[in-house]
Amino acid sequence: MKPRLKHSLVFLAYFALYSIPNMAQNKTITQKVDSLLNLMTLEEKVGQMNQYNGFWDVTGPVPEEGNAAIKYEHLKKGWVGSMLNVTGVENVRKLQKLVVEESRLGIPLIFGFDVIHGYKTVAPIPLAEAASWDLDAIKRSAQIAADEAAAVGINWTFAPMVDISRDARWGRVMEGAGEDTYLGMQIAKARVKGFQGDDLTSNNTIAACAKHFAGYGFAEAGRDYNTADFGTSTLFNTVLPPFKAAVDADVKTVMNGFNVLNGVPVTGDSYLQRDILKEKWGFDGFVISDWASIGELVPHGFAENLAQAAEIAANAGSDMDMEATAYVTHLADKVKAGKVSESHIDDAVRRILTVKYELGLFDDPYRYCNAQREKERLNHKEHHAGVLDMAKKSIVLLKNEGNLLPIKKNQPKIAVIGELANDNNSPLGSWRLGSDNNTAVSVLEGLKKFSSNITYARGPKVFDPEASFLNHVKINESDETGMDEAVALAKESDVVLIVLGEHGFQSGEGRSRTKLGLPGLQLKLLQEVYKVNKNAVLVLMNGRPLTLEWEAENIPAILETWQLGTQTGNAIAQVVFGDYNPSGKLPMTFPRSVGQVPIYYNHNSTGRPNPQPNVFWSHYSDEKNEPLFPFGYGLSYTTFAYSDLKIDTSDKNNIKVEVTVTNMGEREGEEVVQLYIHDKVASIVRPVKELKGFQKINLAPKASQKVQFNLTDKELGFYNNAYEFVVESGTFDIMVGTNSQLGLQGSFTLN
Ligand code: GLC
Repeated sequence: MKPRLKHSLVFLAYFALYSIPNMAQNKTITQKVDSLLNLMTLEEKVGQMNQYNGFWDVTGPVPEEGNAAIKYEHLKKGWVGSMLNVTGVENVRKLQKLVVEESRLGIPLIFGFDVIHGYKTVAPIPLAEAASWDLDAIKRSAQIAADEAAAVGINWTFAPMVDISRDARWGRVMEGAGEDTYLGMQIAKARVKGFQGDDLTSNNTIAACAKHFAGYGFAEAGRDYNTADFGTSTLFNTVLPPFKAAVDADVKTVMNGFNVLNGVPVTGDSYLQRDILKEKWGFDGFVISDWASIGELVPHGFAENLAQAAEIAANAGSDMDMEATAYVTHLADKVKAGKVSESHIDDAVRRILTVKYELGLFDDPYRYCNAQREKERLNHKEHHAGVLDMAKKSIVLLKNEGNLLPIKKNQPKIAVIGELANDNNSPLGSWRLGSDNNTAVSVLEGLKKFSSNITYARGPKVFDPEASFLNHVKINESDETGMDEAVALAKESDVVLIVLGEHGFQSGEGRSRTKLGLPGLQLKLLQEVYKVNKNAVLVLMNGRPLTLEWEAENIPAILETWQLGTQTGNAIAQVVFGDYNPSGKLPMTFPRSVGQVPIYYNHNSTGRPNPQPNVFWSHYSDEKNEPLFPFGYGLSYTTFAYSDLKIDTSDKNNIKVEVTVTNMGEREGEEVVQLYIHDKVASIVRPVKELKGFQKINLAPKASQKVQFNLTDKELGFYNNAYEFVVESGTFDIMVGTNSQLGLQGSFTLN
């Protein structure tokens, strides 16, 4: 039994302290946090550093034995600071009420969830959104996700994932913004602002989380969870800047990762988490571990046991333990044994309590528990409109020989072929935990809204229907049933739309591939169809760059549509029939073969970049160096001309670059004007090209627009190996153009 008197006296003291600060608004959050911290026992402090996964259906009986019963008791003792994967106003309210009313200090929980690209209304996968280069649309997409997540009681999302990656074998490239640091920085900011809004206390904004800090996207050989090993220049100039951009955008949390970086598991890396993130950058939010990554210090061979893992992680600046039960089991003892200073605990708890105050959870722990909002906001028509806009802007036109696209709406005898064309589930992508299966508009459904002249044939099966978040998708490699029917349909049709690619659960976490071609019999189907009908449009659905050499060589029109979420079919139909002129640009390089991977545009020159009459230069004996489709590449139904490149160096602190872009065609279109630099000689070798500016413009037919860019120290500088930001004199080449390989060239010298 608790000593009631003591308990109630403490409660009165706390209530006085806590309520007075809240009443006297002039009390800062820091003062409120300090007041509360002074009342907390060591166990209660450690409790705030503990996050549990949802462990029981709160509408059911209270767990009375086993792990769940222990976790339930911890909730009542105030030994849990956060829950993840608990959603629904009723469930959240029940858990919040249990903690607020039963625990001694009633500190509210913060509820986290992977709202990666939408909640109930699913947006395009983040890699697709990155292909739009449309920061307003990306921010809007995050706002929509936050609105729906908040409506079901979630106050915190484990997004945006800002890991740069150059390796399409890694399944999680679908979750990020691609290979480029500059684009990744802009998108990180847009997503953080979209999730967090201008007022974190409002009930339709949620705390964001920049993840995975750091270097997870460089997993060796693209194998998930594998070691990452790279130098300081890559760390400082490629990997860290998107995280810094998120911190500068006031992201409230950062998640570390599963990987080892240069021999140290990032979950236990105080150089990353304390020296850089908290000290150098001044990050004032809190660090959440990745799922049980604290416990994984043991299999990494970095800790003897869970107790030592808790000690290492706490000392390294991991503020909250996701599901490893390391902190709740061992941290208090480690403090008592002098292995972890209580000042580290206090710092972590201050950070966590501060975010809870900033979310308004102390003012109203049930702020996110509004049943009416839950009914009204999910699947709201504004949300569907927003994700449709995002989806169509994410589509990249890779090829359009003979202007086969757009298809005329009255075009007779349109064949639609492929299992993915009639799939309402796969297009939702892999991170769609909050949504419901089979809620995407399929390609076929979208197309049929434009034309009644459509006939469908599936072709051979590709994927097993049992695909899920937890297991691999089984692929049919042998059963050709359906091939003849599809080929026969193609033969009698005027134009064929063939929808091929990966299942939504073939990319994402735990889904690395060693081959990047079309899975199963899809390429054979395409080749058989193409033999009988040359008017073939390949509509790709995939979560990563694929190797498409035969396709690119033979098929006249190719659309990259990724996995576009709930509004997939409507977005693709608008592009196919020309209601929307595709404007996407690749955020990741498409290789010719997997042997080229990692392949990316902003590579170093090497000492032997140029072809020689002998073999002694940097190349392959069996493959070109060039990619199939480069970073920044994407076509339009119109064409754009670039002219009048001007470089004004009169102000050395703000070099002005201007170019004129003209829409040469007969229809309106958007163009992503891209600015690249090359610092030709520097104390650290600089990439042959680096994106340092882009503007997405819309031009009427025959219209021209001058596009200006400014190059300041921020764009021209880089980090040296001492992590000092430097700008060095010398010659800079620049290129302004339509992708990373094509544009107007110029140069200037910085003295
Ligand atoms: C996963 C992922 C991480 C996610 C977390 C919670 O393993 O690595 O990105 O946010 O666990 O689901």
